[in-house]
Amino acid sequence: MKLLQIDSSARAGSVTRRLTAKFAEEWRTNHPTGEIIQRDLSTTMLPLITDDWNATRVEPSKLNPSQRSYLSTSDALIEEVLAADIIVIGAPMYNFAISSLLKAWIDQVVRVGKAVAYGQQGPQGLLGKRKVVVITARGGAYEKGTPKEKFDFQEPYLRHVFGFVGLTDVTFIHAENQARDEAGPSLAAAAERIGHLVA
Ligand SMILES: Cc1cc2nc3c(=O)[nH]c(=O)nc-3n(C[C@H](O)[C@H](O)[C@H](O)COP(=O)(O)O)c2cc1C
Repeated sequence: MKLLQIDSSARAGSVTRRLTAKFAEEWRTNHPTGEIIQRDLSTTMLPLITDDWNATRVEPSKLNPSQRSYLSTSDALIEEVLAADIIVIGAPMYNFAISSLLKAWIDQVVRVGKAVAYGQQGPQGLLGKRKVVVITARGGAYEKGTPKEKFDFQEPYLRHVFGFVGLTDVTFIHAENQARDEAGPSLAAAAERIGHLVA
C-alpha cells in the first residue's frame, strides 16, 4: 500500500499540514509495511504552464530533448499519483478557492493522453481506482445549506477536476472557522473524522 501525501499550504505550522500529518501517522499505524510519499508543494516550485505545454500534443517518440525536459515534472507527478493507492491532500482555502501551489500541481497532472483521454464518448479519466481525501482549512465557514455555501469554490472545483481525470472516490474533511473562536473545536472535529476515516 502506498499513501501519497500532498501539502499545499504556504505556512509551515499550518492547520492542513497538522491534519495531513495526523492522517499519515494514523495510516502508518494501520499499514506498518506501507510506504508514504510526501510531496510538499511549498518546497519545490512547480513550473507554470507556458507555450511549451504544447509538447503534450506531440507523439512521445517524437519529443525533442527540451520538450522531454519540460514535461519531466508532469511525468513524475503523474507517476506518483498512479503509484499511490490513496492520496491525502492538504488544501488551505485562499480567496474562496485553492492555493496557487495546489493549482500548479493540478495543471501538471491533468494532461491529455496521460490523465484524461478524449474518445467517442467525450473525456474519459485515466487516474481512477484510488481514493482521495482532501483536508481543507478555512478562516470562515461555508457549510452546506448555509448562505455562505455558494462562496465555496474549493470543494466543487476539486470534485470536478478530480472527476475529470477519473478520481471520483473523494472525501472532504473541512476544518472551518480557523480565524474565529470556534477554531479549536472545529480542528478537533476534523481530527476525529480523520481518525474514523483511517480506521
Ligand atoms: C492568502 C490567503 C487567503 C485566504 N482566503 C480565505 C478565504 O477566502 N476564505 C476563508 O475562509 N479563509 C481564507 N483564508 C484563511 C485560511 O483559509 C486559513 O488561515 C487556513 O487555516 C489556511 O490553511 P493552512 O493553515 O493550512 O495554511 C485565507 C488565508 C490566506 C493566507
